[in-house]
Amino acid sequence: MIDAIEKRVIEKLSQHEQRLKHVYGVAETAVKLAKIYHESEEKAWISGMFHDIAKYDSLEDQMNKMDLRWIKAYVDFPVIYHAIAAANTLEHEFRIHDQDILNAIRYHVWGRKNMSLLEKIIFVADYCEPNRGFHDSEMIYDMAVNNIDQAVCYCMKASIDHLLSKGLEPSEEQLEAYQYYQEVTRGESQ
Ligand SMILES: [Fe+2]
Ligand SMILES: [Fe+2]
Repeated sequence: MIDAIEKRVIEKLSQHEQRLKHVYGVAETAVKLAKIYHESEEKAWISGMFHDIAKYDSLEDQMNKMDLRWIKAYVDFPVIYHAIAAANTLEHEFRIHDQDILNAIRYHVWGRKNMSLLEKIIFVADYCEPNRGFHDSEMIYDMAVNNIDQAVCYCMKASIDHLLSKGLEPSEEQLEAYQYYQEVTRGESQ
């Protein structure tokens, strides 16, 4: 199963070398965090490998893999469509019905309130995998090792700041998630 999933991702992203490196980076970083936090390494690998598989599909192709309710829910934020389409592809093509894996993929872009451990691992790994070349990757990874909620909060803020710097409005859902993790981490040592 794992081999088949990897093969599918390699085929799908064969024209996108940097993205392929990124998904390997996310999968490997997620496995490292899964080991530390006693989460399933297999689930971490699958979620990391598959999370961006629909990234280069047209919006039409992405929508073809989504239920109407999801299309409507994120109509103003189609950046989310690749995540929903990826989760649905994994479920339908590979018969993976594990909701934790599917949610980790669905919510990898913004995160959400009250995430499971696996969701947090994938959300943070997406930010701090080394191949992305972000200057603060190592610092975020170290933060995640010490306190994953703080790393989640940091990544959410970085994502919101990035949008604001481009003159874009973060969604209500994204702001609520950030507020939630600010509260979760309030009072904890930095
Ligand atoms: Fe993504
Ligand atoms: Fe990603």
